Amino acid sequence: MIITCGKCKTKYRIDDKAVPKDEFKVRCTKCKHAFLVKKPSVSSEVPPHIKRKTETAITYKDNPDCKVITICNQKGGVAKTTTCLNLATSLVQLNKRVLVVDFDVQSNLTLLLGHKDARSFFEVIDSEDANLSEFIIKTKYNLSLLPSNSKMALLSKTHMGQDNFEYMLRDKLLEVKQNFDYILIDTPPSGDFYTLNALLASTSAIVPAPCEYLSMNGISHIEGMIKVIQNKINHFIDMSVLVTKFDKNNTVSQVVLEKIKSRYKLKVLKTIIEYDQKIQESEIVQTPAIIYDSESPASRQYLQLANEVNEKLFAVAAREKTGSYL
Ligand SMILES: Nc1ncnc2c1ncn2[C@@H]1O[C@H](COP(=O)(O)OP(=O)(O)OP(=O)(O)O)[C@@H](O)[C@H]1O
Ligand SMILES: [Mg+2]
Repeated sequence: MIITCGKCKTKYRIDDKAVPKDEFKVRCTKCKHAFLVKKPSVSSEVPPHIKRKTETAITYKDNPDCKVITICNQKGGVAKTTTCLNLATSLVQLNKRVLVVDFDVQSNLTLLLGHKDARSFFEVIDSEDANLSEFIIKTKYNLSLLPSNSKMALLSKTHMGQDNFEYMLRDKLLEVKQNFDYILIDTPPSGDFYTLNALLASTSAIVPAPCEYLSMNGISHIEGMIKVIQNKINHFIDMSVLVTKFDKNNTVSQVVLEKIKSRYKLKVLKTIIEYDQKIQESEIVQTPAIIYDSESPASRQYLQLANEVNEKLFAVAAREKTGSYL
């Protein structure tokens, strides 16, 4: 059987016959993380064709320097896609190699980057022995894109419940992580199969939240999901809240901002993205706002966000190396 360290993702092959019990504890020799492993029952053994794919995947080495960030909130219209697009383009301006993954069947990110009818993660999984890099498009903004299309809806229907279905994206990303400094994943407005897959592939999550009455609810849902992942499978995800569409002249905005800050404290990113009409204009011409009008308030704020995220994630990585989360 193959086991994977929940922390550093190192994979180990162990002889089934040498396994003493149905459930046993192991310690990763690389990062020293201790975790529980369940021996697969005969009925849940991986079918030969899937097994072949898993064995191919273990030849890829993880790149811990590549930061994988999920942009998520089960609430719709909070600026997940806008943040994914503009944060990614801003990171490119900081000379980072960036891949965006459109993991939402709505395909808004793909459309905003001017692509249509491109092959998605569904086709990646559907094609036997295909390498993920064959499906990645280099956009004109020097940003790499793994597109989405309507077939993405079939992904959960065909793979939900299969062994390791929740690690599909993480395992496939291993094939390309050496090529990128950042991978940003755009997710749908739900906390289901897609968001779970994205979170398990990531070490960070950014939760965009406009200053509206129901925002706290959306943030706390994702926070709950992250806590379950952490407690059940010991996978640490650094969560940050990003205030979006902020209107400084609106009293409700100001009251909700204070509530978010007092509830989530240091988890709230210092950069606040203001409500800015230029974001909507930029969508009409299918251009990231920071390129459409680099001087608009939201564009400047997204560039500032890229700097803040970059600094924050380096600090988190440094803490992880010293083992302060163990
Ligand atoms: N800072 C902003 N100022 C003004 N409008 C914005 C801003 N950010 C996003 N919007 C607008 O809000 C709408 C929703 O944004 P977006 O599509 O990014 O949200 P989403 O969370 O990805 O939505 P969904 O849940 O449907 O995927 C879009 O019309 C976008 O133009
Ligand atoms: Mg979206």
